[in-house]
Amino acid sequence: MCGIIGVVGSNDTLATLLQGLERLEYRGYDSAGIALVRSGHTWRARTAAGTESVAALRVECEDNAPQGYRSGIGHTRWATHGAPEAENAHPHLDCSGHVAIIHNGIIENHTELRVELRERGHVFTSVTDTEVVAHLVEEMRSTGLELLDAVRHALVRVRGAFAIAVMDATEPDVIVAARRISPLVVGTSPGVSYLASDVPAILGRATAFYAVNDDEIVRLGPEGFRAVDLEGAPVRLRQLHIDWDLETAEKGGFDDFMSKEIAEQPTAVRSTLLDRRRRDGTIVFDELRISDQELREVQRVVLVACGTSLHAAHVAKYVIERWSRLSVDVDIASEYRYRDPIVEIGTLVIGVSQSGETIDTIQAIREAQRRGARVVAISNIVDSSLAREADAVIYTRAGLEVSVASTKAFVAQVAALELLALRLAQLRETLTPEEIERNLQGLNEVGDHIATALSRSDDVNAVAQQLLEARDYFFIGRHVGFPTALEGALKLKEITYLHAEGYAAGELKHGPLALIEPGVIVVAVTTDPQMHEKILSNVAEVKARGATVIAVATDDDEKIDAVADFVLRVPACDPMYSPMIDIVPLQLLAYSLARGLGRNVDRPRNLAKTVTVE
Ligand code: F6R
Repeated sequence: MCGIIGVVGSNDTLATLLQGLERLEYRGYDSAGIALVRSGHTWRARTAAGTESVAALRVECEDNAPQGYRSGIGHTRWATHGAPEAENAHPHLDCSGHVAIIHNGIIENHTELRVELRERGHVFTSVTDTEVVAHLVEEMRSTGLELLDAVRHALVRVRGAFAIAVMDATEPDVIVAARRISPLVVGTSPGVSYLASDVPAILGRATAFYAVNDDEIVRLGPEGFRAVDLEGAPVRLRQLHIDWDLETAEKGGFDDFMSKEIAEQPTAVRSTLLDRRRRDGTIVFDELRISDQELREVQRVVLVACGTSLHAAHVAKYVIERWSRLSVDVDIASEYRYRDPIVEIGTLVIGVSQSGETIDTIQAIREAQRRGARVVAISNIVDSSLAREADAVIYTRAGLEVSVASTKAFVAQVAALELLALRLAQLRETLTPEEIERNLQGLNEVGDHIATALSRSDDVNAVAQQLLEARDYFFIGRHVGFPTALEGALKLKEITYLHAEGYAAGELKHGPLALIEPGVIVVAVTTDPQMHEKILSNVAEVKARGATVIAVATDDDEKIDAVADFVLRVPACDPMYSPMIDIVPLQLLAYSLARGLGRNVDRPRNLAKTVTVE
């Protein structure tokens, strides 16, 4: 979950690395570091200043970094092994101080390697898993191997997940990078080569981008790169088609990425739905590499995902069951893999992930494939690991999401999953062509409804201002309002650090109601007309126990003002599309409270954008 960047052959090395790290901060920000390397010299700076680590590193480098270094590596860390302190920050060095390494992932056998290396006289200066690789490379180098082969041989000893970049001041102007599970891309421009954990880090500098696959090792120099596999045989890296521009990777006039991405939601949904219907009404996904016949034969659907993507999957359960009449299970990806899941003929597994790099989700779909399931990925990142490993993929077209708290990816995932539900319904003839057309039309209006909900942000801010003292929130909903409530609670807790829980409204009376007392805020999603009476009863139950109630209600709801303390209005639509609209005031509420409480909304504590550790 750390961010890594490297550049070789540049006249602008320091600026490239610092800018890249600033763009990668969403991956982790417990500490940060840089190494500049030239013949015989390595200059290193590391800072551990929490969410300000990269800013502190910039100050340190601007004050002290030497000029004239054409190559270097940089790292922003989300701590796994070792506290977030400067001595555990990357880059790590070998005993000679010539080999410098940065790493994203976990070296699982680091304890045994450390014991072994210590016995051979190596001295460790950190408690990280990463440092063992620096010493392994040092040993391989001492046998006379060039850096590429030294790294290759070192990696044979290593178990776990990694994207690493290694430099050696005795072989300057070379970076060797390698990948197993953790993401890694390579970029080039004339005379300069780059590597990064994510494309945005080198956007605007590299002009061509290439994906590195598992167990591939790349040697980068000013003249370009060459890649080999673990046996040393040459491999070709696949070129990536990147259509993001620089503005996408920057805030574009907004205070932070979260508010920018919330505002981009109408476009995220519209783009995801664009060009998915042929003239004859057939729903098509150009990128879906699975035949109609295979989809027709699906007997059961299992959705696996984590966090916000899991909540989008929860929405899909209601929609696929209603429209396609297939039985659907939703599984937490990190649980699916370890609980001996049942995969029968006709089981379709859908892995949902914004990044497509979440290790729990990737491992879950691998398990499903091992057991014979066909797997479809819903991914926002083209060519992500999930997209490549699945049998088929549908891309959400939300654009780059930088803020740790996911917003536009959620609405785009729901839109893509609802389209897939309609396609299954079309093939299985569980909806009439007229019903499918009506739903496609309804989905096409969602972007406008989201825009209307966004235009009411002042109403949400006004409510938030009155609740800055509150510490406990319960979010409740029924039917698709339930996953909406779960997602609203997740947004609030992750960026405000307040206590927030999401519940199916009917569950409150089975226990959580004991926690309701004056001072507790209950946020009720009340937009579904069929569930309206029931949820108003639940609202009455919490009001009777002293809770303050915020209702998310449709414009035409005339009853709600009498029962709720605050009402956040949204346009009415078919309940099946409502999670994409109802989530907007809940995102805005979390955002406004977080700002009011002085939180860093883009960089909430302890979290990282892409979770590549189990
Ligand atoms: C919450 C959030 C996380 C992610 C989760 C899965 O705002 O962003 O809960 O949704 O880590 O990430 P992806 O979708 O990349 O697999």
